[in-house]
Amino acid sequence: MTDLTVHLTQDDIVRSLRSDVLTGLTATPKTLPPKWFYDARGSELFEAITRLPEYYPTRAEREVLAAHADEIAELTGAHTLVELGSGSSEKTRLLLDALRRRETLREIVALDVSDSALEASVAVLRADYAPATVHGVVGDFTRHLALLPGGEPRMVAFLGGTIGNLVPAERAKFLSALRDDLETGEWLLLGTDLVKDPATLVAAYDDAAGVTAEFNRNVLRVLNRELDADFDVSAFEHVARWDAEEEWIEMRLRATRAMAVHVRGLDLTVPFEAGEELHTEVSAKFRRARVAAELAEAGFGLTRWWTDGEGRFGVSLARAVG
Ligand code: SAH
Ligand code: AVI
Repeated sequence: MTDLTVHLTQDDIVRSLRSDVLTGLTATPKTLPPKWFYDARGSELFEAITRLPEYYPTRAEREVLAAHADEIAELTGAHTLVELGSGSSEKTRLLLDALRRRETLREIVALDVSDSALEASVAVLRADYAPATVHGVVGDFTRHLALLPGGEPRMVAFLGGTIGNLVPAERAKFLSALRDDLETGEWLLLGTDLVKDPATLVAAYDDAAGVTAEFNRNVLRVLNRELDADFDVSAFEHVARWDAEEEWIEMRLRATRAMAVHVRGLDLTVPFEAGEELHTEVSAKFRRARVAAELAEAGFGLTRWWTDGEGRFGVSLARAVG
């Protein structure tokens, strides 16, 4: 068993799931926060998504990191790499290798809400990056930033476009909290998927093999198991839609028939009409100007901006300013 620092115990997780589900399933429209996709199966399904032909963000971000990791290591001279929502930490190795080449790497912090993803990734990081110290932290990046270990200067990597799974008000709060927890001069490396033609975007979230559909429906399985709910998972269809005004992809689950779902753990009965849609995720797509403005608003100066060759995905290196 890998040794992890736990800021979220199983009890905390269930308490916060209960509160989110009670709020979300009694709201109009019904909604669930995307962090509940990621039990062990959800984390595996996400990894399968990253290998799909239609899902370009992971490959595009990897291309940027491969091209610029040495420059990032040179500019930051980071002693600690903190990764938020680290998942498999697979692309992060490009950064770690570059920091090791520069001989500045001392500590690695991987924070994720998914203990199963961390168990696997932390064991591999410890084996491959010794003598650097590896801290695996089970936590929520919207709540536990102040508690992160690691000596300065730190670089916080928030990759994959996960910031796009927060709505604008949540992003502003998250970025300001992160800025407050960094010393002036420390670094943020931020991955953001970019606005592009809707057909490419929708295909990335509605793949032919149906893996994203399974990932989306997985949240219902989490509720069935953790809250003793009785969702008939097969009665919900996957929906992925581009919202051109908000510039985000929305994932929803559409009830194919009218039904009453019992969430016994909450003593709650949730009626669904035929065709009713449960909102499960937004995935915002960015333009450079928006990224720069949101960073500036939170107290970060944009030092570098890179994209992959096809201009699909942006990576920002930003510095905490006074
Ligand atoms: N960074 C990886 C994984 C992205 S998937 C990549 O670029 O491929 C998103 C990851 O964020 C998952 O591992 C999920 O468990 C984690 N996550 C989602 N919401 C979170 C939250 N609120 N706090 C901490 N981790 C979260
Ligand atoms: C983790 N996050 C950036 C992914 C995304 O693209 O928004 C989650 C995902 N949802 C559907 N496919 C992948």
